[in-house]
Amino acid sequence: MIIYFSFFLILLNLFLIYFINKKKIKKFFTKNKIETVHLDQLNDIFINKQVDQNLFGPKEDVIVKNFCIPPNNPIVGMTSDYEAWIISSLSKISNNIFEFGTCSGKTTYLMALNSPTNAKIISITLNPKNIGEVYKQKLDNNTALRNIYNESKYKKFLFSETKFEKKIEILFQNSLDFDENLFLDKFDLIFIDGGHTYSVIKNDSEKSFKMIKPNGIILWHDFVPGKESAKNVVKYINEISNIKIIKHIKDTSLCYYKGG
Ligand SMILES: C[S@@+](CC[C@H](N)C(=O)[O-])C[C@H]1O[C@@H](n2cnc3c(N)ncnc32)[C@H](O)[C@@H]1O
Repeated sequence: MIIYFSFFLILLNLFLIYFINKKKIKKFFTKNKIETVHLDQLNDIFINKQVDQNLFGPKEDVIVKNFCIPPNNPIVGMTSDYEAWIISSLSKISNNIFEFGTCSGKTTYLMALNSPTNAKIISITLNPKNIGEVYKQKLDNNTALRNIYNESKYKKFLFSETKFEKKIEILFQNSLDFDENLFLDKFDLIFIDGGHTYSVIKNDSEKSFKMIKPNGIILWHDFVPGKESAKNVVKYINEISNIKIIKHIKDTSLCYYKGG
């Protein structure tokens, strides 16, 4: 009897350890070949200037126009403030920008606020009234598919009716039907943050590799090994890293590819 009870206690403990550390354990067992690097490897603009012997800080290149969405504003699908600052800084040196996934338009707005006056930003997103046309395909993760439905709910955006709206073109279209051949070698910066299902992330990435300028930058959002909704993003990026050099930026969920 004591043996059975001890065995039961051991099992219970193992279950509790797994339950409490579920994320860490999943992350440990998720195959990840992507190298994590410091932000200043992405672009020289992120190399700090030395202010004093023991003080380093941002150069003017990365001083940006910014806004925050406070926690009581229930906007879905956003980047962190650190990630938003990285994208804003890169926008300062980008004349042609493409975004997969507009959602509330938070990142699109930041791109418009920080890019040069004549810059053009194109962002593709699903029209809320057409989400019934989005179907699960082989290899698509269920949580990621559910998020596509939840995040496709905006018809107006944070930049709507502001003076920055004229820099932005919104394509209400399923990116699976989008013709990338109209934009070959066109963009300085592409941000991939649309559907996180395998079929969509593969489609958006393959189209981006064709649309990026030789010296441009592609950024992926939500590279989070172990996170259920990001499973397909992590899987695809690991697969494509066999033929493309992709790196992960430390302390973010961003990965990048530099053209050229
Ligand atoms: C995570 S949100 C984007 C967040 C936004 N980039 C930001 O930083 O504020 C995902 C967006 O991708 C869009 N999306 C998902 N699947 C798509 C598809 N197949 N084609 C076009 N847009 C898609 C959704 O409609 C939603 O607007």
